[in-house]
Amino acid sequence: MDIRIQKTTQPKPKPDEHNLGFGRIFTDHMLNIDYSPEKGWHNPRVEPYGPFSLDPSTMVLHYGQGVFEGMKAYRTQKGGIQLFRPRENFRRLNRSCHKLCIPPLDETLAMESLKALLRVDQDWIPSLPGTSLYIRPTIIATDPFLGVHASRTYRYYVILCPVGAYYAEGFNPVKILVTKDHVRAVRGGVGDTKTMANYAASLYAGEAAEHEGYTQVLWLDGVEQKYIEEVGSMNIFFVINGELVTPALNGSILPGITRDSVLSLTRSWGLPVSEKRISMDEVLKAHASGQLQEVFGTGTAAVISPVGELKYGDQILAISDGKVGPLSNRLFDTMQKIQYGEMEGPEGWVEEVR
Ligand code: COI
Repeated sequence: MDIRIQKTTQPKPKPDEHNLGFGRIFTDHMLNIDYSPEKGWHNPRVEPYGPFSLDPSTMVLHYGQGVFEGMKAYRTQKGGIQLFRPRENFRRLNRSCHKLCIPPLDETLAMESLKALLRVDQDWIPSLPGTSLYIRPTIIATDPFLGVHASRTYRYYVILCPVGAYYAEGFNPVKILVTKDHVRAVRGGVGDTKTMANYAASLYAGEAAEHEGYTQVLWLDGVEQKYIEEVGSMNIFFVINGELVTPALNGSILPGITRDSVLSLTRSWGLPVSEKRISMDEVLKAHASGQLQEVFGTGTAAVISPVGELKYGDQILAISDGKVGPLSNRLFDTMQKIQYGEMEGPEGWVEEVR
């Protein structure tokens, strides 16, 4: 399929790479593709970045029928551009589409159109260590209709955002509140899907945590509020007595691509790893007996984020003396080297954009 390219006549000044933050600065162009039952996904085009005009009755604005992804493009030392496991993102996007009754997007079209957009905006990919170009592919339901029903028409779009670290803390330990009062998702629902509703559902508890001085919320299972699930913007890992432990994917946890990469790397180093149901009680006991050595989160935006403190009710658990643990460090270092092309990763993890 031909990808039409219309370049902006008013390019924006490039930002200072030392102060990118996360999610506030957008590049000059975006990608748009439309869907109708008659034409399927059609009219892929790279256009100047700008607002959409949407009818106030547009379905996504009312019932949240929409899905998205998060991925990154990295500038290598040699000046090249590479993506990290992008095909996994497009596979997950289609799994999310399936759950939200959205027609799947051809993965080759998704890949080729993303590369076309990146080629146009390649000068926006920052090169300072720790920076990258965050990519946000999104699909929204566009029928103007107030009946609760799957839309007939959709818009796929991709926007790009030069970024530094996701958390203000950078690669330093964050403080996380384990919520007893709220739940994020239940099995059989959409917790394992990258859809807007999961993030909307997390805001109330997130604000409450922030008021107490915590960066994020750690969610427990939605039924018994006993078992660890995820952080909402990250999956969560524990090092207990030398073993790397993370909750098994159970239908309400997002199957993170960074999560999967961390599991693969740690297994390839011959370290003990287990994906299993893990209760908050086990974490408390491990901490009390001095066996809880490290806690860290993983995500595309956050990469590896060490956790320095967990609060559960009135119990405060200090982790790794508030420092970055050795496995967190090794994983962060290895992931970064692979992502920036300084080290070869497992086959197929890196895809160059030429
Ligand atoms: C990501 O890590 O890419 C995410 O989508 C999480 C968050 C920024 C919502």
